[in-house]
Amino acid sequence: MKKRKGIILAGGTGSRLFPITRVVSKQLLPVYDKPMIYYPLSVLMLAGIREILIITTPHDEKDFKTLLGDGTQWGIEITYKVQAKPEGLAQAFILAEEFLDGHPSCLILGDNLFYGKQVMDALEEAMSHNEGGYVFGYHTTEPEQYGVVEFDKNGKVLSIEEKPENPKSRYAVPGLYFFDERAPAFAKGLTPSKRGELEIADLITCYLKEESLKVALFGRGTAWLDTGTPDGMAHATQFVQVIQQRQGLKIACPEEIAFEAEWISRADLEQSADNYAKTEYGKYLLAILAEADAVV
Ligand code: TTP
Repeated sequence: MKKRKGIILAGGTGSRLFPITRVVSKQLLPVYDKPMIYYPLSVLMLAGIREILIITTPHDEKDFKTLLGDGTQWGIEITYKVQAKPEGLAQAFILAEEFLDGHPSCLILGDNLFYGKQVMDALEEAMSHNEGGYVFGYHTTEPEQYGVVEFDKNGKVLSIEEKPENPKSRYAVPGLYFFDERAPAFAKGLTPSKRGELEIADLITCYLKEESLKVALFGRGTAWLDTGTPDGMAHATQFVQVIQQRQGLKIACPEEIAFEAEWISRADLEQSADNYAKTEYGKYLLAILAEADAVV
């Protein structure tokens, strides 16, 4: 069985965040105490994915490389690919074809935040789904902003429509998609939509048509936040702040995830803590070390 590889789509124009994103990539902006891209990156790591491609704009690639490097510090392998123009989410699979090299994939959007026990269970389930496509449905107040799932009365999926004017359900498809090795081939067969993009909804529909699509619904208590607007960013920041301060546990700390998974050693974690010595983030890493020592 071939190992699943991860893709983070972190390009785009970020026009809904102008003027903030006129110069800086959206996915490098802070969500409370970390750059936004740490959140989707952590989801891939929690799923157990260690080979990750980050797709960026030509202009921002160097900043992502400065921030994340080659991933060694977290025991993972990060590579980069430029998307010349934002021509749609499904284009990720064409750009990633060489990187995927016939492996199944998980694509996550660089501005999506997921949190909750059900997310962990969902990741485990989706990772073991080797054939076809596996996406999610999330009940939301604004389905028209996303791809929307239509169901019949038995819950069978009938269609996925991108940003429909009249949504056929309240279930949006969040930016987390698992596909088998055929995704690049399907993506290459798509034609751009009226807005000139290769639509992820059309790619998902390829799997639906051949009856190899699973749509799993996230229930109550699962957080899916989209940080693409000023309100979205503010909500995400508040959410992370509240949970972290209450529990004393961080959301999306790659060092912690890597250490728990035994992808990095104690010395590696110590090194990272040293790098952030004077910060609250550094203290958190030291606390993880202290806890690990107390258990031994
Ligand atoms: P969007 O939020 O739909 O688009 P955007 O980031 O360009 O923002 P705006 O609508 O405000 O102009 O994109 C979702 C994610 O996918 C986001 O992380 C950016 C990324 N993306 C790409 O990397 N390439 C693309 O071609 C598109 C459409 C999006």
